[in-house]
Amino acid sequence: MDFHATDDAVTRRIRYFSERERKAKENDLYFYNQPIEEIKGGSSVVVRGREMGMYASYSYLGLIGHPRINAAAKAAVDRFGTGTNGVRLLAGTLTIHTELEETIAAFKHAEAAVTYSSGYATNLTVISTLMGRGDYVISDKLNHASIVDGCLMSGAEFRRFKHNDMDELEKRLQQVPDGVARLVVADAVFSMDGDVLDLPKTVELCRKYSAWLMIDEAHSIGVLGKTGRGIEEHFGLDDGIDIKMGTLSKTIPSVGGYVAGRQELIQYLRHASRAYIFSAALPPAQTAAANEAFKVILDEPWRVGKVNANGRQFIDGLKAAGFDTLQTTTAIVPVLCGTDERAYELTQACQHKGLFVLPVVSPAVPEGMARLRATVTAAHEPEEIAHAVEVIANAGKEIGIIA
Ligand SMILES: Cc1ncc(COP(=O)(O)O)c(C=O)c1O
Repeated sequence: MDFHATDDAVTRRIRYFSERERKAKENDLYFYNQPIEEIKGGSSVVVRGREMGMYASYSYLGLIGHPRINAAAKAAVDRFGTGTNGVRLLAGTLTIHTELEETIAAFKHAEAAVTYSSGYATNLTVISTLMGRGDYVISDKLNHASIVDGCLMSGAEFRRFKHNDMDELEKRLQQVPDGVARLVVADAVFSMDGDVLDLPKTVELCRKYSAWLMIDEAHSIGVLGKTGRGIEEHFGLDDGIDIKMGTLSKTIPSVGGYVAGRQELIQYLRHASRAYIFSAALPPAQTAAANEAFKVILDEPWRVGKVNANGRQFIDGLKAAGFDTLQTTTAIVPVLCGTDERAYELTQACQHKGLFVLPVVSPAVPEGMARLRATVTAAHEPEEIAHAVEVIANAGKEIGIIA
């Protein structure tokens, strides 16, 4: 059966996409939605019967499948079942939700925390609840799409500043009319480039211009700071971020998002943010898994050291081979290829050699800046990383990305 509308703009958009997908598949250049049949020890996966080294995971501390976390999830199912009775505000709050929120607040040195069903929903709902028409949101140009969508949804004046450029941030703040509410929002570790926000300067500017500050720690929890508590620990600041946002789907092997901050702010969000009021609570198993994961991070600090050592080895190896890895200092490592075609070619060559890596192309990154966005985790061993570097370097030479 065909669509009801056979030739309107929507149908044409869908058809255009289908054609691109068909061609990519025909040329063995479609890398998305690969079915992972098995997760092997954190550093490799089985895809269509073939074991591959995993270099596209956000499970930075290798916690997927951790026995304590699995046990906590199973116990929660036995106690609470698999679902909740509805939205949090009415009948959906379980004691395990409250426990998780207390754990997050303690981990982030905040008075309180609130959770939502995804990191994406968290950014959307928190930004659009706090900010509205007439207010100003000022966002780093490389911020994640969920932040951008939250800013647009808020209806506030949306201003962007050049990536991590503190002079531009100051200019944007100076342009806000007197007496108008303003929010500065940024990733802690940028998801495409892997570099770290200049938090001390950002905090200083927010204080100077009386702006709210929201930081998204999707890629910094478990990675930054000696004990993995994130960007404030990394810079030795314990105060300065008003809205400490994060996800429960990367380092924390669960699903969901959170915001931690002052009790009054969190209580307001519990009664005003639509993703809390009109959407179901996190399932018990995922809530308990997340709660246990924060405790495991503190009990097993070697994982934080290992992901960072692995990141350094990976970056140094790729740089020595001649690749441009931009400004990354973390576990997210962009391997610049130039054109989209070259990124596809490098991905294809690496995948044929058993590395699970993915390309990031325009419009997700500017044209000419297409790349592999490879990641390492605490589950990798140094020999595995050395092998991955060798595979990427050999393929890069063959394709002509490096000499
Ligand atoms: C910086 C950043 N924020 C938010 C999200 C959304 O989080 P979630 O996957 O939990 O919806 C992501 C996910 O990719 C992210 O990278």
